[in-house]
Amino acid sequence: MHIRPVSNFRGEIKLPGDKSISHRYAILGSMANGITRIKNFSDSHDCHSTLNCLKKIGVRILRNKEGIEIISRGWENFSQPCETLNAENSGTTLRLLSALLASSPFTSKIRGDSSLNRRPMNRIVAPLRKMGARIQAHKGTCPPLLITGSQLRGINYRMPVASAQVKSCLLLAGLMAKGQTVIKEETPTRDHTEKALSFFGADFQQATSLLTVSGPASLKPTNMIIPGDFSSAAFFITAALLIPNSRLRLQKVGVNSTRSTLLDLIEQSGGRVKRTKLKTFNAEPYCDLTVSFSPETLRRFPHQIKGDLIPKLIDEIPILAILGLGLSKGLTVRDAKELRKKESDRIHSIVVNFRQLGVKIEEYPDGFHLPPGQKIRGGKIQTFGDHRVAMAFAIAGTISKTPVEIDDPSSVSISFPNFFKALQSLSLG
Ligand code: S3P
Repeated sequence: MHIRPVSNFRGEIKLPGDKSISHRYAILGSMANGITRIKNFSDSHDCHSTLNCLKKIGVRILRNKEGIEIISRGWENFSQPCETLNAENSGTTLRLLSALLASSPFTSKIRGDSSLNRRPMNRIVAPLRKMGARIQAHKGTCPPLLITGSQLRGINYRMPVASAQVKSCLLLAGLMAKGQTVIKEETPTRDHTEKALSFFGADFQQATSLLTVSGPASLKPTNMIIPGDFSSAAFFITAALLIPNSRLRLQKVGVNSTRSTLLDLIEQSGGRVKRTKLKTFNAEPYCDLTVSFSPETLRRFPHQIKGDLIPKLIDEIPILAILGLGLSKGLTVRDAKELRKKESDRIHSIVVNFRQLGVKIEEYPDGFHLPPGQKIRGGKIQTFGDHRVAMAFAIAGTISKTPVEIDDPSSVSISFPNFFKALQSLSLG
């Protein structure tokens, strides 16, 4: 696929339902006894992987025009799957569902695709074992995981990495364990699980960085609505900022403060962004966003991104790198070594592709430095099978001198199957 330079972006789009929230509501709905209805469920391949795994442990899931309906007899009644569960490309699926399998009275196996099977699982295996889980990992740390369920017990655990997947895995395990599970999270990460827990009737408390959940919990079904995915919106927000005369309207975008840091930085830099129709559902805020081209913002946007900002921006760093091309002072990203453990090694993917497009970039173990004043010349990029790399470099194509060719455009379906349709509908050549 070739992405051509565009003269401006104009129009209005509706984003897919938030991927992180969709995983969580589907899992919590499956743990509850009864019928949970979820509107605007993500159409991403990753969330489909979660639903497929849940069906294999005995949960009924029906799709309708508005979203999905989950019919379950609760987490005490999950059934042994007949085959290995396949989380495919989805780390959230594998890490969160491991908690359910570790607490269920049967032996099961869960694996991923070739990318996920290389990603580290020790970060969940070690604390789950402290709770009494019996888990064997391939080569000591990778999927597949062979899990023999048992009665877990609550623990006190200080998070050694800033990871919402690890935190959520332990909160879910805590719901099925005996006693209290207390998690200390020093660096905040996305808090969708915490926000959802009380809606499903869980006993959950938060005091600054201490999260406490009590089990065994009897969860109740509920009705939920999922806002648009901020991480998907980020590609279009960036395109509108970078391309002269652009003006975009994005409908019902989730603006949870643990996710929308990119927007905060744009606003703090004087960005021409309007938040309208602000509403909150299930404690998740969302609004319509209007974003316009703003050369002033490109001058004022921070040229160094590091420290506690990184976990709150982690999925936006590929598109932030593209924004970096337009920033007057260039861009340095540090403290982001977690990026090397995502769907691809994202630091490597960004560096290789920029060099391929004639852009100078310095690589660090935990980030990169993009000197200012550079233009993309066009060429062929590799997605490394990574959806966010594909979408970030598609946006690079829209600001390039000549087209950018994407080797594997289908990878976008992991989070945003209609990405290219949306891109085309907004691009004026
Ligand atoms: C996610 C958490 C983050 C993020 C991923 C989704 C989640 O991963 O990168 O895309 O839904 O909890 P980590 O927990 O590994 O940081």
